[in-house]
Amino acid sequence: MTFDTIGNWSRIKLEIIAQYAVPYTRIMSGLNFKFYYIDTFSGAGLHIDRATGEDIAGSPLRVLSGHIPFDKYYFIDLDGEKADFLRNYCTQHFSDREIEVKQGDCNEVIKDTISGMTYRNYERIFCLLDPYGLHLKWDTVEIMGKKKIVDLILNFPIMDMNRNAIWHDYGKVSAQDKKRMTRFWGDESWLEVAYNPSPQSNLFDDNPLEKQPNEAVADAFRKRLKSVAGFQYVPKPIPLKNSTGATVYYLFFASQNSTANKIAKGIFTKYVG
Ligand SMILES: C[S@@+](CC[C@H](N)C(=O)[O-])C[C@H]1O[C@@H](n2cnc3c(N)ncnc32)[C@H](O)[C@@H]1O
Repeated sequence: MTFDTIGNWSRIKLEIIAQYAVPYTRIMSGLNFKFYYIDTFSGAGLHIDRATGEDIAGSPLRVLSGHIPFDKYYFIDLDGEKADFLRNYCTQHFSDREIEVKQGDCNEVIKDTISGMTYRNYERIFCLLDPYGLHLKWDTVEIMGKKKIVDLILNFPIMDMNRNAIWHDYGKVSAQDKKRMTRFWGDESWLEVAYNPSPQSNLFDDNPLEKQPNEAVADAFRKRLKSVAGFQYVPKPIPLKNSTGATVYYLFFASQNSTANKIAKGIFTKYVG
């Protein structure tokens, strides 16, 4: 199996996830909740640093290394080799933890995974949605919001969106990529967000739409997390940039809880810029 190589922006994401897990587990264990970590695009657990070639612990291992354990950890990856590697790694290194590694499309697997977890039974979830690109379905996000028990960190892959669906020349985007974008966004309203009528356009213009900046797209997604998925708190996301300064992802946090929101905002603030 080949491990994924990751850039500096992914290292920052991993640090943020680990930093959020520490106060989360401390607070939840003090309140006698049952609390679960769900990593829906978990990867193999190990990556290779693009710049140095070193091994880097991925999100599952970062969260597993926390001092206070979650009641259970669920890891889901589509890639069978990665899921097998992670399962074996967990058996060897974290045999004292309750862990389930599932192979499959997380947009499907998640439904069964969380169906029995409820607010009334004092169950809570910290979930990471970390796709490479447009592999996440909006339904998955909405299920999380409507559950009312989920704190979410979501990687919003703006660079992949710009590469595949939000082109300057909208007319040239394939029908299949538009469909993938709609699946991620949940409906076709992304079109109204990503494009405005061009002020210079006229009847004979081939390209009458003007692409809007990344910030406008991220801001509209933030509003959807609140108004459609039903998360009460969604602070401004942080842009994670590559070495040329281009935004690769926006990292979102979403929750129903004001304390969780304060903690996440505090962590995000440290990384802005
Ligand atoms: C960005 S990587 C995850 C990295 C990991 N969260 C970390 O930070 O260490 C994305 C992973 O999603 C997996 N993947 C892609 N499509 C998927 C799907 N529909 N369901 C579950 N996993 C998927 C890929 O195999 C890959 O391992």
